[in-house]
Amino acid sequence: MIDSATTFHKIVDSRRSIRKFLPDSVPQEVLDRCLDSALKAPSSSNLQHWEFVIIRSPEVRAQAERVCLDQKVLQSAPLLIAVVTHTKTWKRNSRFILETLGTRGILRKSQTQYWGRLIPLVYLQDPFGFLGMLKHLIARVVSLFRPTPSLCSKSDLRVMANKTTALAANTFMLALRSEGYDSCPMEGFDPWRARKVLQLHRGEEVCMFLAVGKRADKAIWWDRILVPRGWVVREM
Ligand SMILES: Cc1cc2nc3c(=O)[nH]c(=O)nc-3n(C[C@H](O)[C@H](O)[C@H](O)COP(=O)(O)O)c2cc1C
Repeated sequence: MIDSATTFHKIVDSRRSIRKFLPDSVPQEVLDRCLDSALKAPSSSNLQHWEFVIIRSPEVRAQAERVCLDQKVLQSAPLLIAVVTHTKTWKRNSRFILETLGTRGILRKSQTQYWGRLIPLVYLQDPFGFLGMLKHLIARVVSLFRPTPSLCSKSDLRVMANKTTALAANTFMLALRSEGYDSCPMEGFDPWRARKVLQLHRGEEVCMFLAVGKRADKAIWWDRILVPRGWVVREM
């Protein structure tokens, strides 16, 4: 195996959900490098639906701990980050992609059609979700006759954006591990109160919180338990 593969697999293997941290803070340069990597995660239509909210304010931190049901890990975690999913940034981000391709002088008609026409068709919603349901239904019927892209209902959109955001979160956790830092992802939180504490708007929701720091002794609950490979890998 090549050296980089060995290193990568070691990083993946040593990432565990850490429930007890040392008090050492996370240096800004480490955080920045890990964020740089996370922001390169793949995203649906390159729309980068994520936002990393680094919680610095002690007041917000205290409220966020409460929102996270006062999970014990937070008593020691030096840093708490909220990874937020956005389902309404697609317009801004599509425009940015098209402008960037334009300034690079490589904007093609197919790209203008993709981000200028198809993406709005997939993403556009009305406040009540009727348009989304109608689009979903039409796509489902057409799909009986020919392959059709999913024209999103509101819930399809949330699934899609959360998939993408979770990939960025995972890249971030692996990047932290490569720097000798650790994390614990958390979805045990109150989503309604989380939105309030983080001042989120419509179309924004917390995908997960991440407790971040350096692992302490006895910070891992048990040796890794993996279900049999045959249950989760299939060939056909
Ligand atoms: C989306 C997600 C949500 C999670 N939520 C919590 C949580 O709220 N609290 C917690 O202690 N661990 C949480 N975990 C950690 C899992 O329990 C952990 O990943 C799993 O047991 C496997 O252990 P490992 O990460 O050490 O390999 C979460 C993990 C994921 C991916």
